[in-house]
Formats: sequence, C-alpha cells, structure tokens
Amino acid sequence: MDKKQQPKVLIVIFGATGDLAKRKLFPSIYRLYQNGAIGEDFAVVGLARRSWTNDVFRDNVNNSISHSLSTDDNLDAFTSHFYYHPFDVTDDASYQDLGSLLNDLEGVYETDGNRIFYLAMAPNFFGTIANKLNTFGLKGSTGWSRLVIEKPFGHDLASAKELNNQIREAFDEKQIYRIDHYLGKEMVQNIEVIRFANGIFEHLWNNRFISNIQVTSSEAIGVEDRSRYYDHSGATRDMAQNHMLQMVALLAMEPPINLSTEEIRSEKIKVLRALRQIDDTMVDDYFVRGQYGHGKINGKYIKGYREEAEDLVDSNTETFVAGKIMIDNYRWAGVPFYIRTGKRLEGKSTKIVVEFKDIPMNLFYETNEERQPNLLTINIQPNEGITLRLNAKKSGVGSMAKPIDLDYNNENVHGINTPEAYEKLLYGCMIGDATNFTHWDEVALSWKFIDSILNVWTDQKATFPNYEAGSMGPKAAHELLEKDGFHWWPTTED
Ligand code: BG6
Repeated sequence: MDKKQQPKVLIVIFGATGDLAKRKLFPSIYRLYQNGAIGEDFAVVGLARRSWTNDVFRDNVNNSISHSLSTDDNLDAFTSHFYYHPFDVTDDASYQDLGSLLNDLEGVYETDGNRIFYLAMAPNFFGTIANKLNTFGLKGSTGWSRLVIEKPFGHDLASAKELNNQIREAFDEKQIYRIDHYLGKEMVQNIEVIRFANGIFEHLWNNRFISNIQVTSSEAIGVEDRSRYYDHSGATRDMAQNHMLQMVALLAMEPPINLSTEEIRSEKIKVLRALRQIDDTMVDDYFVRGQYGHGKINGKYIKGYREEAEDLVDSNTETFVAGKIMIDNYRWAGVPFYIRTGKRLEGKSTKIVVEFKDIPMNLFYETNEERQPNLLTINIQPNEGITLRLNAKKSGVGSMAKPIDLDYNNENVHGINTPEAYEKLLYGCMIGDATNFTHWDEVALSWKFIDSILNVWTDQKATFPNYEAGSMGPKAAHELLEKDGFHWWPTTED
C-alpha cells in the first residue's frame, strides 16, 4: 500500500477493558496494521476505570488478537503502539492528564494532531464525555478530530434528540461517526452494487415486478450476559430501529447521482421519510412481537427468556419482532417489505429475499400452486453471496419446469472471509469517509417510526412466552405474510 495513503492517527478508546474493544476493535486495528492500511504512525490509548498498566493492557490486546485471528507474527511491535490510562469519565483531572498524554504521544508517533475518540461503553456518559473533551481542549488543534459512537443512540426519539443535542454542543455532525456495524458488512455494502450495477435487476426493481421483499436476521444465541441492557431494549430497539431499517433503506433507495456520502445518505433519508407511519389502530396488523420460551436448539435444552435471570421473571420485553413496512412512494407503492429478527431462533442467518411477481400464465407446472417465483437472495451471513432462483426444464421427456438456483459465494471466489465489519468502519473513520455511518436524520426518522409501535406495546402486556426456542418465532409472524398471500422463504440452509 502507498505509504502516503496510510492515515496517521491517535485512537482513544473509552471502555478499553470491555468486550467490544477485545472482540472487535483490537483485532480490527491489527488487521489494518497487518495488511498495511495503517503504518507505524499511529497509537491507541485505552481508557477505563481499572488501574491497569501499559503492560497489562498490551497483554490483553495480545490475547484478544491471538484468540480471534490466526497469526504467526510476533505481536510486540504492534502492541507497543498501545497505551493505557486509568480514567474516570466524570473527573476533570482525568481529561487534563489525558491531554498531556496525547500531546506526548503525538510527538512520538507524528500523528499530525489527528484524533479519533471511540466511545465503546455504556451510553449514559456519551454527552458528558463529548463535552469534557471539548472543554479541556482535547479535540486537538492541528489535525482533525472525530467522535465514534456505538449504539444504542438513545432509547426513543426524545432521548436520542437529547443525546444528539449534547454531543452537537461539542462536535459538528461531520465529526460524528455513529456506528451501525451492519453497514460494515461486505454483503450489506454489496446491496447497492448488485442493484445499481446490474440492468437485469435495476430495471425490475420496483412495484411492477417485485411482489415483496423479506429481510431476516435470526440468531440462535439468547441474551447471554446482557440481560440488563437487553431487557430495557428488546428486539425492536436492539435490531429493528437500526440494522433492519438500514437494510430496508439500502434496498429501497433511488440510485444516488454519485457515490459521495452526502448523495447516498440523502437517498436513504428519502426512503425513511416515505415509511408509512403506523398508528395505534394499525400496529396489530403490521407488527408482531414475541418472546422465547424454553425449547431445543441443536438437540440441546434451552431455557426460556424469563428463566435466564431472576429479574426477567415477569419480563414483557420482546426477543422477536416481525413487521410489514410499506414505503409510500412511486417506486414501492403496494410492495410490502417484511422484516423479522429475534433471539433463540433456529439458527444464525441474515438474508434478504426479493420475490418477483409471477409471469401472467402458467405453462410449465401442473397447478398454479406449484409455480415457483423468481427469487433473488442476498446472503449476508454466515455465508456471503447471492442466489438467483429461476425455473428451468426438468430433464427428460416432457416440458415441465422445476426451480433451479444459480449460486455465487464470495468466500469460494476470494478464498478467505471478507474483512470484519469493524475493520472497514474504523478505516472509513480514519480516512474521513462517513458513508457507512448513520447521519442524525436517519437516526431520528428511524426512531420516529419505531416509537409509534413501541408506544402501543409498552402500554399493553403481551402474552409471553409465545415461541419456542429453536423455532422461527411466533405463529402470528407467519400469519402476517399469509394474510397477504405470501410466506417466509427459509433462511437457514436446509
Ligand atoms: C447488535 C445487537 O447490534 O447486533 C446484538 O445489540 C446482536 O443483540 C448483534 O446480537 C447481531 O450482530 P451480528 O453481526 O452478529 O449479526
């Protein structure tokens, strides 16, 4: 890689002893270093309450990398770029000390005053941190400063606005990088390319030829040790408000006039503005919530959500959500976008299925019911690729048809898994490319849509549990499509 393109930067991680730093950030920074995307002109400062030393921190970084990546290299050269600083986010002196440390490191690593502040911690202090960084002059003067914020960005529209106002007192919208890690996934980024680089899809990508679009993100895992966060969030806030709506926006947006951040965002924002708002009387027709009871996954007994922790015994939190989203614009009038996501489902899989309308007349199947529509499946994970379902002649005598699948699998072609989402997002932030981060307008419009559903649900107690662990969610999620004459296409490999 051309050395001139290697960003020079100091990365300050708040919450450096936490899970995200360990599982995602350190391995991603390592991959960027290993493949030459960053050179030697960088340093990472880890902040958290624990009184670790640089050595303890470096050992942790080392372990997290060797656990998640295969590496024969001696990691010492890499981990020598890491520094630890015990930190209390509410204490002014902590910021003053940090300021001196950053100035010193800038001298050593020649990072031109460029700083990324990465908030990889619980959101309660995001506003405080942003403001104190500003007050104590840590945003630097010679280079650029960027603030990376993990989700959740608020709990509803009102709290998101409040948080945004606090942050905006200290940072401009251009300096704020709100993470939605789905936007870093290779196949989510591929949606635009598949759509806008292929005439055979783009010409058909509208309500004349598409009958419905299904976006499923299923997980086999439960809430693990995150029940405190999750029980206040639920599947709708945790997945639908951000990841699912972002995928819908990418599937539905108009072609941007160019690939700049502003143009792409502006097309996504238009989609979010066109979402049919769900009022109180519509919620039951458009959305379904669920919570898992006990069941089996891969032959193993799985506890119900309410049995996972003592304080969940009476929980009314949804661990599953499915919904019908209508986009009331010229291209999509009448085409439902169905989304569904949940914990403790059959397996881990994220897929988009685009179902095309039937041809007008059935010539090749015994009955109309046997006909198979054309499907374009975008496999986001665990497999990455696309499958196109067509109809072709059954071999032999006669002229009956059968469905066939044309498969493209990214891994088979490239031989390796594509880069981690976080690796791409971090690099995007280093080079100032905010395309795959969410703009405030997107966050606000998504909350507005989701709030109207949650307002109804919060006031009404659900009859939970209503789906078995290891199933694909409650019966009502299937009925949601059946009443429109559709059904969910399978998402796990049969
Ligand atoms: C996170 C949610 O945003 O996404 C988690 O908070 C969820 O609850 C995760 O498990 C799913 O991400 P991925 O990349 O594993 O599909």
